[in-house]
Amino acid sequence: MSDIITAIAPVNIAMIKYWGKRDEKLILPLNDSVSATLDTNVMCAKTSVCARPDILENEIWLNGIQTSFSNQRLQNCLNSIKAIAREQQSVNEELLSWNVRICSVNNFPTAAGLASSAAGYACLVTALARLYKVKTDVSKIARVGSGSACRSVYGGFVRWHAGVQADGSDSIATQIADSSHWKEMRVIILVVADTKKHISSVKGMSCAVKTSELLKYRVQVCAPTRVKQICEAIKDKDFSTFAEITMKDSNQFHAVCLDSYPPCVYMTDVSHKIVEVIHKYNEICGAVKVAYTFDAGPNACLYLLEKDVPEVLSLIKHIFPTTSDDFIKGLDAPTTHIDLVKEIPMNPLEPNLLKYLIYTKLGNGPQVITDESHLLNAQGNLL
Ligand code: DP6
Repeated sequence: MSDIITAIAPVNIAMIKYWGKRDEKLILPLNDSVSATLDTNVMCAKTSVCARPDILENEIWLNGIQTSFSNQRLQNCLNSIKAIAREQQSVNEELLSWNVRICSVNNFPTAAGLASSAAGYACLVTALARLYKVKTDVSKIARVGSGSACRSVYGGFVRWHAGVQADGSDSIATQIADSSHWKEMRVIILVVADTKKHISSVKGMSCAVKTSELLKYRVQVCAPTRVKQICEAIKDKDFSTFAEITMKDSNQFHAVCLDSYPPCVYMTDVSHKIVEVIHKYNEICGAVKVAYTFDAGPNACLYLLEKDVPEVLSLIKHIFPTTSDDFIKGLDAPTTHIDLVKEIPMNPLEPNLLKYLIYTKLGNGPQVITDESHLLNAQGNLL
């Protein structure tokens, strides 16, 4: 039997969105995208894998529940890594012939509708690559699990190159700058209380590609320009440019969703209130101090600099009152209260429109864990 290999991997949030595939099977995107990787100390996926002769069929357990291994994306990841291992002759054929048991958990609530598949697939391919001792760029393999997962393979700021090859060999992620480059950058995730069932990214994207005229313009003109500009802004640590591009791209992505036929609606009234608050705040400050971005759901992700965190947290708590005594999760949040009530021309909304906030920062890519805190015991059974 093999050793138990355990890895952790981060979540990433895109500033320039990936939305639309040129190849649905290989998961090849229409445009380059750019994201930031978040600290695994606050949010991460953790995965243990092992291969044994006595496992009768490949098995996967997600957050304690056994799930079908028939998922094509999952099989593609496993088969791609095994094919590379055979090519590189990195392990013996016997190990490759055994079935695997995979056990994966998230340390953040999946019910919150936060993107967990990116962290999950990045984690899985990191663990499998170690199990089969392959030396390769794992971003291409994570990509066949879920497109955005290829960006979770690196820390800091990351660019996923759409590539031009039909086989996807150049559709890989690269690091723009590591997590120590812009130390002051902070992230606040606003988890919106919401029970609506959302259209999956797969369906939403496919509908946009078939029906949205705006997507064509975005792919040809806006996305390439923005990718170039935001890479420069990151290198120069130019926050206002970074923030403006991030907000414009989020808005355009949701405009593409509305331009799809039938339309995909991901943002809610609460999401739009968040947009309004941020624009009013930036206006009062006379500078762009906070950026919002929304993925395929109602939750907001705010990018801001550390120095502005106390004021922004006070502002959010004022406009979105809560009755929760565990409202801010993640890093230790500054407790200073700043009285903005008179300046912001907005009244507090009804309580509990936000479930909670997650305060975090940028972090590193996936890691294989050596501290023995596996999810499987030495016999390969679930702990
Ligand atoms: C809105 O990576 O989840 O978060 O490739 O079909 O698995 P698949 O889609 P997925 O899409 C993410 C879309 C997004 C934008 C982004 O992360 O770039």
